[in-house]
Amino acid sequence: MSSQTLFVTGGAGFIGSNLIEHLIAKYPAYRIVNIDKLTYAGSLDNLRSVALHPNYVFEQVDICDLTRVRALFDKYKPQGVIHLAAESHVDRSILTPFEFVQTNVFGTLTLLQCAREAWQGEYAQHRFYHISTDEVYGALSSEGLPFTEISRYEPHSPYSASKASSDHFVRAYNDTYGLSTLVSNCSNNYGPHQHPEKLIPLVIGRIVANQPIPVYGRGDNVRDWLYVGDHVRAIDLIYHKGRIGTTYNIGGGHEMTNIELVRLLVQIVDEKLGRKEGASLPLIQFVADRAGHDFRYAIDSTKIRNELEWRPETAFEKGLEDTVDWYLNMLK
Ligand SMILES: NC(=O)c1ccc[n+]([C@@H]2O[C@H](COP(=O)([O-])OP(=O)(O)OC[C@H]3O[C@@H](n4cnc5c(N)ncnc54)[C@H](O)[C@@H]3O)[C@@H](O)[C@H]2O)c1
Repeated sequence: MSSQTLFVTGGAGFIGSNLIEHLIAKYPAYRIVNIDKLTYAGSLDNLRSVALHPNYVFEQVDICDLTRVRALFDKYKPQGVIHLAAESHVDRSILTPFEFVQTNVFGTLTLLQCAREAWQGEYAQHRFYHISTDEVYGALSSEGLPFTEISRYEPHSPYSASKASSDHFVRAYNDTYGLSTLVSNCSNNYGPHQHPEKLIPLVIGRIVANQPIPVYGRGDNVRDWLYVGDHVRAIDLIYHKGRIGTTYNIGGGHEMTNIELVRLLVQIVDEKLGRKEGASLPLIQFVADRAGHDFRYAIDSTKIRNELEWRPETAFEKGLEDTVDWYLNMLK
């Protein structure tokens, strides 16, 4: 794959924009076509560093628009697709589940069908890689063993149900038509470019503005945190070297409760703002728990570690501090 055209969907979002920056820097012979509808969650500001690069192309297209997606395959003749476009916020999925089925399920199916038509059975030279979430596996108890690639699908929110459904469609296109597909399911990402509605940027923004920091329930839900730069390296490896027709779990190996994370952010941000230690702790407000809130997610990354020699390289404290610096700089 020395020179190729690669579609990245959802490239104006959090993970997609970090991925495009990585791909443009690492693969000078690739042409990267970013297909993004630019919903409230996408921003071309995330792509300022590559916007003028000769190998980067932006197409503002809804992945549910069959005619336009088909035309893109015809125009660019891509060798591969890395599919990240999605409605991604669990809270919004509780309010507007239809939008989640539309983009996450119907949009994924549209891309699969267009890829199948365009690649016409020459699947060995082409790859369709779907980026998914560990939330498809449902919730773990404190003692439960981390999810592996063969854990049972048991989604609870409309978001995770829509992602589970799209994962099944991707596998079905491999099983039924032989399309060369890959799926990865990762834990919570953090890092630059994340939309301010998500936990870490939200908390940083509230501390800076001296506004209440809402924490669901008692804050004892557990999440595993993966630095977006480590995730992007995993995506690169899976796209190029992953075993076709299989799934890889990607975890950061850093579990913590939400309240531990919020307290740590208070400590880091207060220090950087020159405030007294613990000054912003009174901003924390426990609010009614999210409906269907999964207690704990944790990922067993043994497969990607063994097969592709990937491991998270960013120490959590360092990744979090860099992330805080990035948001504080943005908020200036
Ligand atoms: N952020 C995480 O922690 C996390 C964890 C696990 C899996 N994922 C998955 O990774 C992918 C990327 O997540 P993210 O956090 O970067 O999401 P994001 O919400 O930041 O970005 C999503 C992007 O998709 C675009 N988009 C939405 N609907 C579209 C449509 N119909 N057509 C074209 N573009 C559309 C948006 O404009 C946006 O740029 C998603 O598939 C998500 O399910 C994310």
